[in-house]
Amino acid sequence: MKEQIELIVAAAKKAVDEASDEKQIDEIRVKYLGKKGELTALLKQMGSLSAEERPIMGQMVNEAKAKLEEIVGAKQIQLKEKATELKLKAEQIDITMPAKEAKVGKLHPLNTVLNDMIDIFQSMGFDVLDGPEVETDHYNFECLNVPADHPARDMQDTFYLADNLLLRTQTSAAQIRTMENRKPPIRIICPGRVFRADEVDATHSPVFHQIEGLVVDKNVTMCDLKGVLEQFAKEIYGADTKVKFRPSFFPFTEPSVEVDVTCSECGGKGCRVCKGSGWIEILGAGMVHPNVLRSCGIDPEVYSGFAFGIGLDRLTTTRYKISDIRLLFENDKRFLDQF
Ligand code: PHE
Repeated sequence: MKEQIELIVAAAKKAVDEASDEKQIDEIRVKYLGKKGELTALLKQMGSLSAEERPIMGQMVNEAKAKLEEIVGAKQIQLKEKATELKLKAEQIDITMPAKEAKVGKLHPLNTVLNDMIDIFQSMGFDVLDGPEVETDHYNFECLNVPADHPARDMQDTFYLADNLLLRTQTSAAQIRTMENRKPPIRIICPGRVFRADEVDATHSPVFHQIEGLVVDKNVTMCDLKGVLEQFAKEIYGADTKVKFRPSFFPFTEPSVEVDVTCSECGGKGCRVCKGSGWIEILGAGMVHPNVLRSCGIDPEVYSGFAFGIGLDRLTTTRYKISDIRLLFENDKRFLDQF
């Protein structure tokens, strides 16, 4: 029996030596010292010994137990310390490491310019409205004094979705929707995307943006149109900007004008951006045609109004000196990061 004890102790010691984590050492403790452990099993066999042998063996087993408990305990402490050390090391924070740069989103340049325009018109008392991108022929053309066989339809190459359904070619459809739903005085702008089947190049895109404006009231004249648009141009391009009103044609306005501003690149001397003319066209406008007022149930004998359509993309490319309109739609991060 003495030999058995020595064998058990030797095996236990070896196991403790080899144990490398807290779980293993706990298993060893159960195996040798637990209630069903090997030393306890020996104690249970003592009944078969003689009365003289029993106390001697009892003492030997107890001494072996005490010794093993000491070894296991010491190893437990040692492993625990090692585990804590490893954990601390793993959780260490290097406060000298450079911080990660937080990526903050930015406004697209089109939105920056649009927000500026909205501010300007709101300060002049305009409401901001929204209209559908899929329009009926009725709102996009018919009510705007462009009947089915009118040659002005050729000015705007249209994406048709179905017989009477199309992608709006101009935000002017919003004029009609507004006049149907509101009674004068009306003062609104309607920004949005418009679509034309244009060939893509540096200055043309099949999708672009307009801001439609409409004012209808008693005694609205061409002077009001000029005042509002001149004020707008000076706020967007700077107080020195000169504004030119050129006679033009739109079926839904009479008289009609196109508005040019002095080129912001060369200040009017003539350069590549303005193709040498010193001027850049930024919008179309005019006095709302009596037929249009009538088609919306507004009496042209009592009320008059003016409307304008501003090209947001042109305004944005000239303000930021962007040479190609396609850059506004490609959403290349390297481009957008510059704003
Ligand atoms: N809708 C016209 C265009 O797209 C612009 C415009 C709007 C002209 C309102 C006059 C009045 O060309």
